[in-house]
Amino acid sequence: MTNRWTLELESTSYTVALEPQRRWLELVAWGPRGVEHGPSPLANRGSVHFITDADAAPVEYAPRGLRPFSAADLGVAGESWWRFAADESTDTQLRLAFVDELTGLRAVQCYRAEPGTDVLCRWVELTNTGTAAISIDRLGSAGVCVPTGERGARLTYLTGQWSQEFTRRSTVLEAGSFRMESRFGVPGHQYVPWLTVQDAAETDGPAYGVSLAWSGSWELDAEIEPSGLTRVRAGRLANPGPVVLEPGASLTTPELALASSVDGLGGLAGVWHAYSRKLAGPRLRNRRPVLYNSWEATGFEVLGSRQLDLARQAADLGVELFVVDDGWFVGRDDDTGGLGDWTPEQSSFEGGFGAFVESVRALGLDFGLWVEPEAISPKSKLYAEHPDWVYRIDGRPATLIRNQLLLDLGKTEVFEYVRGFLDELLTAYPISYLKWDMNRPPTERGRPGEPTADLDAEHVANYHRLLDHLRDTYPGLIVESCAGGGGRTDLATVSRSDVVWPSDNTAALDRLRIQDGFLLMHAPHLMSSWVTDAPGVFDPRPRSLRFRFVLAMAGVLGIGADLSRWSAEQRKEAAELIARYKSLRITIHTGRCRVLSGPTEPTAATQYTLGEQTVVLAWSTGELVGTPLVPGRSSRIRLHGLDAAATYRDEDGQEYSGAHLTHVGLPVEWTAERDADVFVLTRV
Ligand code: GLA
Repeated sequence: MTNRWTLELESTSYTVALEPQRRWLELVAWGPRGVEHGPSPLANRGSVHFITDADAAPVEYAPRGLRPFSAADLGVAGESWWRFAADESTDTQLRLAFVDELTGLRAVQCYRAEPGTDVLCRWVELTNTGTAAISIDRLGSAGVCVPTGERGARLTYLTGQWSQEFTRRSTVLEAGSFRMESRFGVPGHQYVPWLTVQDAAETDGPAYGVSLAWSGSWELDAEIEPSGLTRVRAGRLANPGPVVLEPGASLTTPELALASSVDGLGGLAGVWHAYSRKLAGPRLRNRRPVLYNSWEATGFEVLGSRQLDLARQAADLGVELFVVDDGWFVGRDDDTGGLGDWTPEQSSFEGGFGAFVESVRALGLDFGLWVEPEAISPKSKLYAEHPDWVYRIDGRPATLIRNQLLLDLGKTEVFEYVRGFLDELLTAYPISYLKWDMNRPPTERGRPGEPTADLDAEHVANYHRLLDHLRDTYPGLIVESCAGGGGRTDLATVSRSDVVWPSDNTAALDRLRIQDGFLLMHAPHLMSSWVTDAPGVFDPRPRSLRFRFVLAMAGVLGIGADLSRWSAEQRKEAAELIARYKSLRITIHTGRCRVLSGPTEPTAATQYTLGEQTVVLAWSTGELVGTPLVPGRSSRIRLHGLDAAATYRDEDGQEYSGAHLTHVGLPVEWTAERDADVFVLTRV
């Protein structure tokens, strides 16, 4: 029987082996294919004092009994110890079973290589084969070892709060641990369940990343372990906990995706982008329409005539889809009412809502709608009929956030209600785009009479079932995922949606930073982005209309401005930029995307290459250099991944060698009016 297994990924490999007494699996090597041939960089070469062997070993997954002092992945009341029992492997999958004979807990540690990518998915299937319930307080999906050296680990993570999501930060961990978590019932705005680990001794050396495919509460720790390696643990957070596994019952943890690249953070982003595209499958090729969303223009005051005016103006610019955001349904005059009663406010639409939708479509626009299916307003009819459908604890007052409560979506009757109203809307009206929002986390999270229900998991499971239902039943429907901005952008959501809304903050320079972080984790085809008015709701630093357009063109372009305030000149410029974006969107959405320089540089730039075409979007973030009034030189953007010997031609006929573009760079001349630009190069 073999003791060692290697999973081959596109250009990397991952090798694990059983320790001699077959109590746990160890990571042998992870990196470019072939790294497994040679002594493992992770093995403990010293002796062990005051701790157990498992505490010092590069363990893949261990219960707390077995690994009592260094971090363990599974926490079971009364503790657990296990031993290897069986191997059921194929070329692309490993399933290695460990059994605790005393409690009957069986843990199958699972690995799946994602064909055509450098992503490995890991998860664990737990079964209680014993006779007593097993109570679990820590439910990791995987432990991930990275062979960092004496200087410790550089951790890169994405953090923020509402309107400041995806802020990229790095910290060096020389000892101790680093922790991120969400108790929000969604991944949340504060942290994204995503982390990169690099050796702190190098500025941007090989990068190892994890991303948790879980749309609920979660936890992730990174710790410098006794032998000096860095070990990351990630999994869902039982909320409220613990999770009880009854005799005969099984549960599967969410998947943790692992990725590595020798080309630093940029190379790793490329691996994640390839994985995002894999998750999109054939839907990647579906056109993601240029949309207009009326939220910032009209807020809750949704009146058919005003919406139609905006739709007409949007259609004139070349917009392809008109989305009515919040405020279209009964009782929704402001954020204190309406949620749960998903019936159009017919009196707001002359001739009725159906006629309004048809008028929008008669302009040549597709029609989209905002919903917040998990939410309920205390003033709603739904709440009057079903006060027991919300999370609640008997005897405790309910906390309102944004004046609303949260439905206990894990309940079958709630799930059926939500599916029912979505089906009704989608069959009654020709809706081709749904923005699914979620604007409050759970509080008083209980379900009277069921004290041990695994509420977070049940909620997430039904949220996923609903998204799956939408995809299966309405294959042409595009779903945009949103949770008060970028609160729910995990891989499980992304694999069931077409686009995500990274943040409510669309102000130019803030958005540039948000998109920079977003593109470390997800590919551009997922990044919904709007051109809004300036100064708008957030960051007042002025930037041109062109800047705001080029920024929104970096992903899936939309417009959220009040078009009635735009001048003829602005409309002309907008129409030109929309047409330009349409002609480039295949390259932007499906090409290889590289952030060349970020928002802290004087020139920020992103490159997209598909076949012979390279598109560069660039933004002037800082002060102007002063030329041509004083001596100076062009700003330069150095491109990546081009053929040094090939010739590339821009749209003015200027030719450059690949070597020039790579080492000298594409010249840009910024002026006050031209603070952003689009460059298209064709390999000749
Ligand atoms: C959330 C979303 C916004 C908008 C509002 C509507 O905040 O993130 O884009 O849809 O809800 O209430």
